[in-house]
Amino acid sequence: MIPVGCLPLVITLLGFGNNQCIASINHLATAFNQKLIVTSEFLNNTLPGLRLLVLDFYTPYFDIITRPAIYGFSESRRACCGTGLYEASIICNLNSNSLGICSNASKYVFWDASHPSQDASKIMAINLFEQGKSLIP
Ligand SMILES: *[C@@H]1O[C@H](CO)[C@@H](O)[C@H](O)[C@H]1NC(C)=O
Ligand SMILES: *[C@@H]1O[C@H](CO)[C@@H](O)[C@H](O)[C@H]1NC(C)=O
Repeated sequence: MIPVGCLPLVITLLGFGNNQCIASINHLATAFNQKLIVTSEFLNNTLPGLRLLVLDFYTPYFDIITRPAIYGFSESRRACCGTGLYEASIICNLNSNSLGICSNASKYVFWDASHPSQDASKIMAINLFEQGKSLIP
């Protein structure tokens, strides 16, 4: 599970005006991830022939959000689309110019209030591939 407490929408709705990631919500995600790892290790050790890999989405995503400049981003609180604090999904597409889309999405970690930008997705994809490539025969 990703660091849900760092999503712009979640900070806007539950952050009480604080612009930081919400630690208590991120803790729910890390607790879930820990249970997933324990269960996966159990299944892995119990079912012969099973090839199971748990990819860590949390750590790289959290690092991109909390240290955006290292990855070439200048903004990780607001998203590219709309006000960048609430908007998501269907109102943030190429046909919704009325909302306003930022001039350069490459500067933003988030495309909309709950989804990463293309550039952030690409960094995540490379990271996840590196984590999982040992399983490719
Ligand atoms: C499953 O077992 C393999 C081989 O021992 C190991 O490489 C892999 O990390 C294990 N996966 C999990 C989720 O424990
Ligand atoms: C968009 O931003 C990225 C990252 O800061 C930068 O490398 C790129 O040159 C910018 N593109 C334009 C058209 O300004």
